[in-house]
Amino acid sequence: MQRMARIWQREGRKIGLVPTMGYLHEGHMSLVHVARKKVGAEGRVVVSIYVNPLQFGPQEDFSHYPRDLARDTRLCRAAGVDVIFVPPTADMYVSGAEEAKAHSTYVIEETLARRMEGVTRPTHFRGVTTVVAKLFLAVLPEVAVFGAKDFQQAAILQRMTRDLNFPVRLVVAPTKREPDGLALSSRNKYLSAEERVQAVALWQALQRARQTVRTAKAPRLAQELKAELSQFIQIRPAARVDYIEFFEPDTLAPVTEVKSGTQMALAVYVGKTRLIDNGRL
Ligand code: PAF
Repeated sequence: MQRMARIWQREGRKIGLVPTMGYLHEGHMSLVHVARKKVGAEGRVVVSIYVNPLQFGPQEDFSHYPRDLARDTRLCRAAGVDVIFVPPTADMYVSGAEEAKAHSTYVIEETLARRMEGVTRPTHFRGVTTVVAKLFLAVLPEVAVFGAKDFQQAAILQRMTRDLNFPVRLVVAPTKREPDGLALSSRNKYLSAEERVQAVALWQALQRARQTVRTAKAPRLAQELKAELSQFIQIRPAARVDYIEFFEPDTLAPVTEVKSGTQMALAVYVGKTRLIDNGRL
């Protein structure tokens, strides 16, 4: 991959990377279109497909995370992707009978990664920053496109890129949604028909918060609004709130008062499936 990227660079082509874990949907393909726009017709768009074991916790869904490389390949071909980069784990994380020779270098963002997703998934972002740094070094992109659905991930990767001086421009593309508002996610596949109906609660909670901010005469206390929205979501029998947070979009710093411009993010279990969403109020 690096050799090919260097050739493209010598030819003066811009490289755009869309990092994914596969099982691609319309949301990913919208990132591909953004990447193509950024690098132009002469540029090269690379989609990486790698279910990164390092970002899954021991109790999480690594082994049954959905995979369908044949379908992903068809979608990428139809969208004009130049290369699908599917590194084998043996190349990404050298393991070995001898521990002394195994992979032991990680990229850790130490501030933004501690909050929200980081509370219940303490090693998750270490896995994301490490693999994305490795993908940047393999693909040598000028532009990398990420989805806004993983708002905290995008903020952490922006920070990593700045802090480590990666010569990469990050672009964050808007979340794609089903007609009823559910954010597209590969994990939606886990939902039963009944859970799928209840999963729209995340979007409805966001809309409800927006409505509250729009109509409130004074800023609302974050604690109060969290409690109200949790109740609203958990009326649905399959739904259990992991967190609802209100924060400054640039720093992810929590706010005590919710007003116009505040960012809201939430994680909700619907049955056994953990879904996330976020939006600007
Ligand atoms: O957002 C994802 O799918 C993953 O976290 C990423 C960025 C591809 C890293 O594995």
